[in-house]
Amino acid sequence: MSKSAQHRIDQFFNGPGARADNWRDLVGAAKAWASGSGDRATYEALLNDLTVTEEFHGYPGLQLMAALKESAASGDAGTSLALAMRITNALMTRSFRQHAGDSSAGENADGGMPELVPSTIARSEAHRPYFETLIVTGVSAASWQSLATEWRKLRRPLDAFVYEPVIVGSLEDAFCAAMLNPNIAAVVINEGFALRSRHDAPVLRAITAGANLRDESDASALRLAQIIKRVRPELDIYVMSNRDVEEMAGNPEANVVRRIFYSIEELLELHLSILEGIQDRYDTPFFDNLKKYAQRPIGTFHALPIARGKSVFRSDWIRDMGEFYGPNLFLAESSATTGGLDSLLEPTGNIKKAQDKAARALGADRVFFVTNGTSTSNKMAVQALLAPGDIAIVDRNCHKSHHYGMVLSGAQPLYVEAFPMTEYSMYGAVPLKTIKQALLGAKADGRLSRVKMLDLTNCTFDGHIYNTRRVMEECLAIKPDLIFLWDEAWFGFARFSPFLRKRTAMGAANDIEAWMRDPKSVAAYEKQQTELGKNPSDEVLLKTRLIPDPRQIKLRVYQTNSTHKSMSAIRQGSMLSVKDVDFHTVEAQFKEAVFTHASTSPNQQLIASLDVSRRQMELEGFGLVANAMEVAFAIRQAVNNNPMISRYFRILGADAMVPQQYRQSGFTDYLTAGVNWAAVLKSLDDDDFCLDPTRMTLVCGTAGFDGTQFKGILANEYGIQVNKTSRNSVLLQSNINNTRSDIAHLVRVLAEIAGEVDRGLKQGGENARKTFEARVKSLMKDVPDLPNFSHFHDAFRGDAGSKTNEGNIRGGFFAAYDAAGCEYIRLADAEIDKRIKNGPDLVSANFVIPYPPGFPIMVPGQVITQETIDFMRKLDVKEIHGYDAKEGLKLVKQEALAKIGGAGRPSGAPKHKAAAAKS
Ligand SMILES: Cc1ncc(COP(=O)(O)O)c(C=O)c1O
Repeated sequence: MSKSAQHRIDQFFNGPGARADNWRDLVGAAKAWASGSGDRATYEALLNDLTVTEEFHGYPGLQLMAALKESAASGDAGTSLALAMRITNALMTRSFRQHAGDSSAGENADGGMPELVPSTIARSEAHRPYFETLIVTGVSAASWQSLATEWRKLRRPLDAFVYEPVIVGSLEDAFCAAMLNPNIAAVVINEGFALRSRHDAPVLRAITAGANLRDESDASALRLAQIIKRVRPELDIYVMSNRDVEEMAGNPEANVVRRIFYSIEELLELHLSILEGIQDRYDTPFFDNLKKYAQRPIGTFHALPIARGKSVFRSDWIRDMGEFYGPNLFLAESSATTGGLDSLLEPTGNIKKAQDKAARALGADRVFFVTNGTSTSNKMAVQALLAPGDIAIVDRNCHKSHHYGMVLSGAQPLYVEAFPMTEYSMYGAVPLKTIKQALLGAKADGRLSRVKMLDLTNCTFDGHIYNTRRVMEECLAIKPDLIFLWDEAWFGFARFSPFLRKRTAMGAANDIEAWMRDPKSVAAYEKQQTELGKNPSDEVLLKTRLIPDPRQIKLRVYQTNSTHKSMSAIRQGSMLSVKDVDFHTVEAQFKEAVFTHASTSPNQQLIASLDVSRRQMELEGFGLVANAMEVAFAIRQAVNNNPMISRYFRILGADAMVPQQYRQSGFTDYLTAGVNWAAVLKSLDDDDFCLDPTRMTLVCGTAGFDGTQFKGILANEYGIQVNKTSRNSVLLQSNINNTRSDIAHLVRVLAEIAGEVDRGLKQGGENARKTFEARVKSLMKDVPDLPNFSHFHDAFRGDAGSKTNEGNIRGGFFAAYDAAGCEYIRLADAEIDKRIKNGPDLVSANFVIPYPPGFPIMVPGQVITQETIDFMRKLDVKEIHGYDAKEGLKLVKQEALAKIGGAGRPSGAPKHKAAAAKS
């Protein structure tokens, strides 16, 4: 990220913003040179820096870059400035996309100023989507300009898209281009390219050395194809070979290649294939048909009078709604599932095709579109995969949909706790050791067969990312058919980052699948078994990084994502992804889950937006996500390095969000001096938890604001919406929608607020200082301890084990339906403290979920402890679901519990540890 290292080509966190900065700096230097306040040497040095990475971009391209160099070499400051400004402007406004072909600028017959927009191409090709094709070749760099011209000659007026070639000559350059140029959408690999770049790439080389890429013979076309596919799975890769193409095509490594061509004569075929590949990603089966449907004259004798909009546009009274949304919304509204549309409940046509494409994009076997948010996706997955009596290991802090899913399915949650971050009134994520302990406890109780699922949130609201692969591998070593449900409501975008992908459920599942196929895996498993011996103790198993038996694993991975939270879907658009070798055994159950939860009138626009989100992410997701990450880094840097802002505010780095013991690689933070992407990669490989950089916890308690208050100030006074709050922080989230103007606005606002706080303190004297310090202390130090899940009452543990804490949450939930069996006690009533001390137990009749922090501090059937009461009494939030302050806590009465217990608890069934100790 620093300017000092600009000659390096392997700075992969330098996204589009850094590139724009470089061009702006060049214009600045050209201006200075032209006006006499600067010099040519400074300008040329910047130009040389920039030229290195510009090689990886189709625009401005070889000829315009050569023109820039020429004007500098000939000492022509005026032309240099004009050209640099025009290129920079074309890049900033993205107008070059409409004017593809301007790189032929240098071919101007008169040798004058190159035309930026050649008239013929500009007109005919306007508005065609633009992309760039990476051409990897062994031909010498001297021929690249003419090679590019050959490629451009293939363009035809009929082409639906237009592209520029980006030519590189080595594996290293190809890799860097794929990482640095988000416009690349297709890759052509010609055999005979070199391994090394002409440029400096020390970090990349350190990595490739470890990957057995040492000399030219390692630089094969298929090897490069594999490497590129790993970082950019969405790209279509074509290989051109003059050798034995039949043999190459039969090589399993060729599975990542879309098509193999024999010899250069096939250039037109290749061009058409490239366009066809893009078309395949561009096609949105449902949306395309919906658009067609909206254009047809259709008479409806069906429900939904709003469809076609006649009742709206003819009305004096609701016409403004029609004008606001425009006619297309109404033309595209329909109750129909025929006539080119499809049924979400039993998709066989366009929705099915759209779902299949989404599965491809997300690395899953299949995807369900869900139109009622991930709240519904989670309930569907839990209901489909769990039956009454099954046990699921669940993060107690997960979204309420999981808890409600357990109630619906009758499964018993075995709650596990995340590590607390008491200082900020939030939880982290669940340590692997805790999860393994739960599995080993169930095993010791002889109940492992009943544990069906591990259900976790990745990443958490606050940005904790699991080591999904490690968690799944170690759990599979204990229970080879365990099902995993990863709630990635916030993390759907991560699929499109080469860094974060491996930490997603599907990324890890694909890696595990590849590992299972590797013959070395069985040997690794057997070696560990020998080392562990016959009956390793739990202590040893907890300490060891367990390797599962690849021959026994049944890989069953589910992921849900709120597409609307991180991609371009309309609110409530969600996807449920499946990678399950045993899906056929639960397919019918999934149908039932769809029938249970999906509306019979799902919203067409929502389904269309899911389809379109997929298209966008497959074609530009890589760049959009890189931008979101770059925005986050810029905000983090601006806040933490600004002297005034950082006096009162700070954004927590990975070191503050993830305790050291879970950062085994020694990683501290993205912004720590000397940290490069190799360190980030190592952290992503090794560490138990990483921080999603796009989720920024901004501490505001140090400025004297509590989270809710600060959120209100930002929203009401500055028009800035933030995500969630805690007692002393707010959560900022960058996403694919953010621009640098958003950063500037946020930073300016924070500087203004910090300035006001500072002025207030300076002008307020001793009294103001004391009041401020007391307020900060109260927010930052007097924080309530976070209550752990206690245990279910024995009445709901009729068939529970002795070493684990699962319980019949559904029994607890329906106990609340018996009004006579329930009682209310107010929170302030001393009766509560008396009962906690002397009994009988206080047993919650419902979920109690304060916002924030947003997790259930009580679930139905849970015994309430002093910890929970203390927390509730200290809570200063207004929104608490399941609790009415006027009435008090809703509890299940003793008599009712005795009745349930008598019915549900066989005599001699083990009591919970805590209950047993009391009695
Ligand atoms: C972790 C998690 N899962 C699921 C959901 C529910 O998602 P949706 O709002 O799409 O229903 C949320 C919502 O905030 C969430 O934070």
